[in-house]
Amino acid sequence: MNTVRKSLLTIFLLLTTIISLSYLLGSCRKESRIKELELLQQDIPSGFPVPAYNFSDNPLSTEGFELGRKLFYDGRLSIDNATPCSSCHQQIAGFGTFEHDRSHGVNNSHTLRNAPGLFNLAWNTSFHWDGKYTTLVDAIAQPINGHIEMGESFNGVISKIQDDPAYRESFKKVFGYPFIRPEYILKALAQFIGYMVSANSKYDRYKKGTESFSPQEENGYQVYKANCATCHPEPLFTDYSYRNIGLPVDNFLKDYGRLMITGKAEDSLKFKVPTLRNTYISSNYMHDGRMGTLAQCVNHYRNSVQQSSTLDPLLATGITLTNTQTTDLLLFLRALTDSAFIQDPRFRQPD
Ligand code: HEC
Ligand code: HEC
Repeated sequence: MNTVRKSLLTIFLLLTTIISLSYLLGSCRKESRIKELELLQQDIPSGFPVPAYNFSDNPLSTEGFELGRKLFYDGRLSIDNATPCSSCHQQIAGFGTFEHDRSHGVNNSHTLRNAPGLFNLAWNTSFHWDGKYTTLVDAIAQPINGHIEMGESFNGVISKIQDDPAYRESFKKVFGYPFIRPEYILKALAQFIGYMVSANSKYDRYKKGTESFSPQEENGYQVYKANCATCHPEPLFTDYSYRNIGLPVDNFLKDYGRLMITGKAEDSLKFKVPTLRNTYISSNYMHDGRMGTLAQCVNHYRNSVQQSSTLDPLLATGITLTNTQTTDLLLFLRALTDSAFIQDPRFRQPD
């Protein structure tokens, strides 16, 4: 009996030693692998708050970012091999969809909402117009599997891209394993789109004191501060809350926004406040892209706010603006365009 117990104890001790040794070895390997990567510093523009996401679970590196960039532009992530992320998220539109209210997905499908621009995402506290996703990685997984976006399975994506030796090598370098896993695809994509920061508009240069506003832009800035800044506050131009601004329901789409996530009547017709940065180049506005110009958006607040029980109290009587104030406000909104961002070679389709 005693000997049996002794040998059991020996086996147990041996096993724990092996397990802790391999754990130690594994973490050493992880550390030495990370040392081999060219680490990237998260870009936090001066004046921006602390980001909600700091990549602590996904160390940013040039290699990881470049891998994510390649995946972002790769049609093989979609079932028809022709609908990459970049088909809906186009750099020319601040990574929103240019010229379409709702984007085209695989098999002649249409998304139900307008594609938001992708930048400053590390500050987002939730994703999608109704805040359905709380993490960047979850928001990235959705379109790959979504039947009206890319319609592909992770096994399908992996079986296509693992035949590419350059991919195998990159994944091994960044994540340490020769096998491609869904988690690695998502993390690499998160490094690419999570690193995209836009903070070089005329407004930003004005704030730094390196450029000045015209008198009209200056006036537009004051109009913005008095009427828009509560929901669209500087410097990110959104407070990330959900609000009903009194748009009529589209009878075809029947989109009730945040209500569909929380199930609460008080959330009916509330949508996440979008940023106003780069809004001028986005070409379609509101959650379903129903408006084609910024002037239409401002006129909505002036003339067309619909009453309902969940209408935001700030808009109970709409927003009163003179025509001059409106023109100046529109000029201010244009000054939020970051043309360097939409031409930034780091974010372009890789060669
Ligand atoms: C077929 C068009 C389409 C494709 C392809 C597509 N998206 Fe989107 N994306 C959208 C639309 C539309 C939304 C808004 C969805 C909503 O709010 O319901 C969106 C939302 C997002 C958001 C949330 C942004 C925010 O501010 O809330 C992220 C992040 C995103 N997409 C990343 C990606 C990535 C990464 C890929 C590729 C893996 C991709 N998308 C592929 C159309 C697309
Ligand atoms: C009560 C909060 C609130 C106020 C005040 C407000 N907005 Fe908005 N804004 C929103 C919300 C919420 C949306 C998205 C609505 C939707 O799609 O259903 C939005 C959408 C927009 C859009 C469309 C952006 C896009 O990417 O589609 C523009 C442009 C805009 N607002 C400009 C302004 C301006 C200019 C003012 C001041 C005159 C203003 N907003 C005042 C909450 C507000």
